[in-house]
Amino acid sequence: MLTVQLSASNPAETGTPLLAIALMENPSLAGIAAIDTASSGALARTFEMKDFRGGRDETLHLTGIAKGPRRLLLVGMGAVTDKLASLKRAASLAARQGQKLGVGELVFYAGQINADETEAVTAGLIAGAWEYNELKSATPESEARKPLERATILTSNTDDTRRGLSNGQAVGSGQSLARRLAMMPGNLCTPDYLAEVARELGEKHKLEVNVMGRSDLEAEGMGSFLAVAQGTPQDPKLITLHYDGGGKSAKPIVLIGKGLCFDSGGISIKPAQGMEMMKFDMCGAAGVLGAMEAIASMKLKVNVIGMIGATTNMPSGTAINPGDVVKSHFGKYIEIINTDAEGRLVLADLLSYARKFEPSVVVDAATLTGAVVIALGHTATGVFGTDEALVTEILAAGRKAGEPGWPLPLWDEYKDLIKSDVADVKNSGGRPAGAVTAALFLKEFVDGFPWIHLDIAGTAYSESDLVTIPKGPTGVPVGTFLEFVRGRAR
Ligand code: BES
Ligand code: MN
Ligand code: ZN
Repeated sequence: MLTVQLSASNPAETGTPLLAIALMENPSLAGIAAIDTASSGALARTFEMKDFRGGRDETLHLTGIAKGPRRLLLVGMGAVTDKLASLKRAASLAARQGQKLGVGELVFYAGQINADETEAVTAGLIAGAWEYNELKSATPESEARKPLERATILTSNTDDTRRGLSNGQAVGSGQSLARRLAMMPGNLCTPDYLAEVARELGEKHKLEVNVMGRSDLEAEGMGSFLAVAQGTPQDPKLITLHYDGGGKSAKPIVLIGKGLCFDSGGISIKPAQGMEMMKFDMCGAAGVLGAMEAIASMKLKVNVIGMIGATTNMPSGTAINPGDVVKSHFGKYIEIINTDAEGRLVLADLLSYARKFEPSVVVDAATLTGAVVIALGHTATGVFGTDEALVTEILAAGRKAGEPGWPLPLWDEYKDLIKSDVADVKNSGGRPAGAVTAALFLKEFVDGFPWIHLDIAGTAYSESDLVTIPKGPTGVPVGTFLEFVRGRAR
């Protein structure tokens, strides 16, 4: 992960290979006159000629600066309405450019910034520098560009800004962990591996970690989770992590993540085109691990339990078949119409099991349906909840994290779609309102606690390069989980 530090030095006097300057629309020399002098008036001419207007995501790279920084990178923020979001985005863009330029390190300047702004910039820099290249052979020395290893934020170095820095690092390490796990191919990021990572987090932050395997799930009567796992020889894992920051008597927040390390669809197999993307079907689980990392790093005063249901969905002679009926942990019988609607089967048993923790609230995140992508595209997470105030609370958390969500209905009127001829409920309601019927299915297994379901199928990863995020995992839902928990911490 990128190392980020603070420095109160003068931007014109740093000998950095790259000074990134974040600027609003129609920039002036206010606050950067010394850099203009160091660049022999290049900045003033650039602004005057309107070669850089400070538009959102606009960048301009100036090289050959005689004194101080060797190059300048102007990063536009447009007309800033949400300063934290704009700074974070500009920082991401700067780090991503720094990574592409091969400069090794950079300095980021946006004028004097406060603690929250320092947090946003830190998290943005780390996110923008993020790459996954563990599986690429090293490039020959002659062609190698220097990976971006360090960034320095110019601002006053006070207790406040240092707290912002360390919070930003916590966000950054949680998101980086989640993105790394998501990007890892399914043959490496297995249920076993997720359990190993959970245990490592446990060691690092002194969390109690429990890992249940197939025989434990059998003993618990988790027929729904096991139905998904019966097609794979890999041992399924139900992983729980306990973070106790809130004192003995406080009820825990439970975070649940869908951890399908690969979803082929099972007997209801998916088309080959794009099937490789289904390694991302564990982004909910990665989000739980990333959030636990961030929450523990921040030492938030709150109790949180993370739960992950990890397995793969495979066709085989032992796999579950369409038409089969299984008994869930909750006790309800489920008719499995479509083996590709597997995430809800795993989550059903986790939601039921969560009752034993007497949660104050349960939030699950899952790449659950293609239907939510049709409804909301790749811009908003689908949000469902049993309680309107809670929905408002999670929407605010998502907005704050830069991970917007949008509410969808959980109305009983849709329940007919998942009525079974032979069992209590069926696992697929077909195409109409697919994200809603999936959520309603989950609700069948929710009892005794307020509950939120986040369908992140459209937002957890991107199938194309975005301005600040390369093709692949976005870090969603780490920020939403974290801001929600933060909002409830003492
Ligand atoms: N993991 C998929 C959902 C998904 C689709 C995530 C596209 C990301 C991108 C899920 O397990 C699934 O296959 N859902 C089915 C449900 C259907 C069979 C009722 C779907 O959405 O097609
Ligand atoms: Mn599926
Ligand atoms: Zn799936």
